[in-house]
Amino acid sequence: MIDWQWVELEEVGSTSDEVKKHGVVVSALRQTDGRGRMGRKWESVEGNLFFSFGIEFEVSRIGQLILIIGLSVAETIGNKAKIKWPNDVLVNGKKVSGILVEKVDDFFIVGIGVNIKSSPKIEGLIYPATSLKEEGIEADRAEFLNQYINTLDKNLELWQKEGIEPIKTNWLKYAHNLGKMIKVKNNTQTNEGIFQGIDDNGLLLLENNNKTTKIIAGDVT
Ligand code: BTN
Repeated sequence: MIDWQWVELEEVGSTSDEVKKHGVVVSALRQTDGRGRMGRKWESVEGNLFFSFGIEFEVSRIGQLILIIGLSVAETIGNKAKIKWPNDVLVNGKKVSGILVEKVDDFFIVGIGVNIKSSPKIEGLIYPATSLKEEGIEADRAEFLNQYINTLDKNLELWQKEGIEPIKTNWLKYAHNLGKMIKVKNNTQTNEGIFQGIDDNGLLLLENNNKTTKIIAGDVT
């Protein structure tokens, strides 16, 4: 689908600041200023995988792109993976991977962190961090990245040929807490209800008192 070019750097502030165009993948051994969603920091322990890539995508379909990106991480990890909406990836209820999507000029920069060997130990989190190694999954960072790009490419092709439906179906197979009571918190409000699924744009469907609300953004607890 895309003729990917991969560059590996030794040390960067953030791999997401090094990507200047569509089709380029930048990884680094060390990140000194890794960033996460909602203004948070991404603690970048050496031995883990940090990479970013540029991708041109219709802006109105960003929700679909986010589903494709997260699904591809889960599929690369395998059947122990779960996706916590919108796109944290968990193993055994703990976070192994985070995804940050940013819009720059006429393309998106997608940054992905995967805890391959170790995880930052932060007390008091609802979803504590873990690593693939700590959960008994052996992975090599270069092989993981290679497999991720192949899986992403395969899913982009599936999406182009058959639309969002098969992507959604596959995403839901990995969904964390599907059918359960959840709370979604964003800057302005907290919504509570049963996690019913996602719509074609990747919005979360929350049912409460027989009414379904579509959630655009937030943290699920
Ligand atoms: C999150 O869960 O908050 C998203 C974390 C995204 C971290 C990755 S690591 C590679 C890329 N470079 C960054 O500075 N952030 C992303």
